[in-house]
Amino acid sequence: MNRIFSGVQPTGDLHLGNYLGAIRNFVDLQNDYECIYCVVDLHAITVWQDPRELSHATREVTAAFIAAGIDPTTGIIFNQSQVAAHAQLAWIFNCVARLGWLNRMTQFKEKAGKHRENASVGLYAYPNLMAADILAYKATHVPVGEDQKQHLELTRDIAQKFNNDFGVEFFPMVEPLIFGEGTRVMSLRDGTKKMSKSDPSNQSRITFTDSADDIAKKIRRAKTDPDALPSDPDGLEGRPEAANLVGIYAALAGTTSASVLKEFGGRGFGDFKPALADLAVEKLSPISDEMRRLMADPVNIDAILADGADRACAIADPIRKEINDIVGLISA
Ligand code: TYM
Repeated sequence: MNRIFSGVQPTGDLHLGNYLGAIRNFVDLQNDYECIYCVVDLHAITVWQDPRELSHATREVTAAFIAAGIDPTTGIIFNQSQVAAHAQLAWIFNCVARLGWLNRMTQFKEKAGKHRENASVGLYAYPNLMAADILAYKATHVPVGEDQKQHLELTRDIAQKFNNDFGVEFFPMVEPLIFGEGTRVMSLRDGTKKMSKSDPSNQSRITFTDSADDIAKKIRRAKTDPDALPSDPDGLEGRPEAANLVGIYAALAGTTSASVLKEFGGRGFGDFKPALADLAVEKLSPISDEMRRLMADPVNIDAILADGADRACAIADPIRKEINDIVGLISA
């Protein structure tokens, strides 16, 4: 059986990269798979989080999932810390994964930077928890943006080593689902850098909480070059900012860069940016409005998370017991 699992961290405002690379695909997949979507609060605390902001951000990501079109009654939406199997399996995987594997993780190197000695142990072991998230449900497919590819390769390595070590065919080999034109949305200020929640400039990203005005302003100020748009994608070579804006347009319109350039090739950014701003507002404003409406009733959001956690537990618990049996841990 095919089962989807994916997660989003409740750290800061969700941005266009999260939407185009992940959340929008979550919505598209829900009719064809059993889907489990998780707000990964335990991942968030691998770097310091203000407790009040963390619970607010957890509700906000939940609201974003629902506002974007995920149905919490057919799929499952919950926050990670409510299902104990994640942390328990992560510990087992801490004992399966090798130090050398984690040392190769580029996201840890980027996040810890020069302060490696001062990074939390949790930040280092983060990919093991991510593997546990997925494999606690024996999920087979994981929709993510391009930046999570390496973590999913590690998940496969962990599953394989567990199966080999214990002589079982227990965990499936997880398939990443990285698709669409928005798998790697870049910063609006620098087309060579990923759009990210941690970029100090909020002009670098469009967020779900931006007003229509903010969105238009950010796109107007986005870095570009002086040339007109080319008429086919080869002409975007060496023009990262232009390629990014065309890619964003294509992803929002549900088409390809080639067909965007058919329409806009030969025209300058003076024409293209207002069209992009209009499209971004048209697609994002209904989601932001619905998020605001949902956020006005936090009790309802918490009830959705609690219901999702119950249903997630019902899947994870029997799997957790089988894992304990395989490892030799006694459980009731
Ligand atoms: P996070 O919270 O950083 O991002 C959530 C999702 O958004 C995608 N994404 C992007 N896609 C395109 N362009 C961008 N600029 C961009 N920035 C972010 C990410 O690829 C991701 O799909 N480790 C994960 C969360 C996680 C997880 C999991 C994911 C925890 N457990 C299990 C899948 C399965 C993360 O930090 O995502």
